[in-house]
Amino acid sequence: MVYFIANWKMNPVRIEDAEALFTAALKGIDRLVLGKDKTVVICPPFVFLERIKTNFPEGKRAIFLGAQDCFWEEKGAFTGEVSPLMLKGMGCDYVIIGHSERKQYGGETEETINRKLKAALKARLNPVLCVGERSRDSFDDEGKVQWGLGLVLREQLQGALRDISKTTLTKIIFSYEPVWAIGTGVAAAPDDALSASMFIRKIIADLYGDRELARRLPVLYGGSVDAANAAGFLQAGLDGFLIGGASLEPREFVKIVGLN
Ligand code: PGA
Repeated sequence: MVYFIANWKMNPVRIEDAEALFTAALKGIDRLVLGKDKTVVICPPFVFLERIKTNFPEGKRAIFLGAQDCFWEEKGAFTGEVSPLMLKGMGCDYVIIGHSERKQYGGETEETINRKLKAALKARLNPVLCVGERSRDSFDDEGKVQWGLGLVLREQLQGALRDISKTTLTKIIFSYEPVWAIGTGVAAAPDDALSASMFIRKIIADLYGDRELARRLPVLYGGSVDAANAAGFLQAGLDGFLIGGASLEPREFVKIVGLN
């Protein structure tokens, strides 16, 4: 399965534009995904979820709705937060957890990521867990993961996956997201992203003592993906993308989804 996850972030501002964006993307995507091994997930801002959901094509199970975050409790006195149960009830099947922008601006920590991940799994949402390093120069000349990146990925995964069972692990989609590549127009080299994804699998294999399980988990790439560079990542062996900027351009997004 190849995943194309559109993270609209805090865009667009007007609901009319959100609907127009969705409709335009859907028109192009519709014929590309049916019957193929492709899953498209659209993650609009919370306030647009319901309206976007009403525009979803009936019975199509290749296009799904996702949220960009959720809280770790199901309900209660948590002003401003959104429960994973609310998201599920609204028709979401996926939720992004631990995006670096939430760490940077939203006070997200390893502990909150772990709690959110558990809450999302409990609510039967498929979490898209983001991990990645802040600084560049994480690979040596041969594209091997440097010690620093290895350490960062290990810490992030260990923290995020604390007390998460092997059975629920298979519901998680992992996304390698080098922070320096997000929104900068400078994507990682596909081979480097592949090295990082293999390292992620190795860490999970170590944590769970199961190499076969780790091999089967989807690991995506995110960070300045566009229609020009996306094919390289698929050829390298990544399992799809988390797409920010390019998901706001329907033609660009549709081109990426159309890649084989
Ligand atoms: P970008 O965002 O495609 O705009 O770089 C990617 C992400 O935030 O995952």
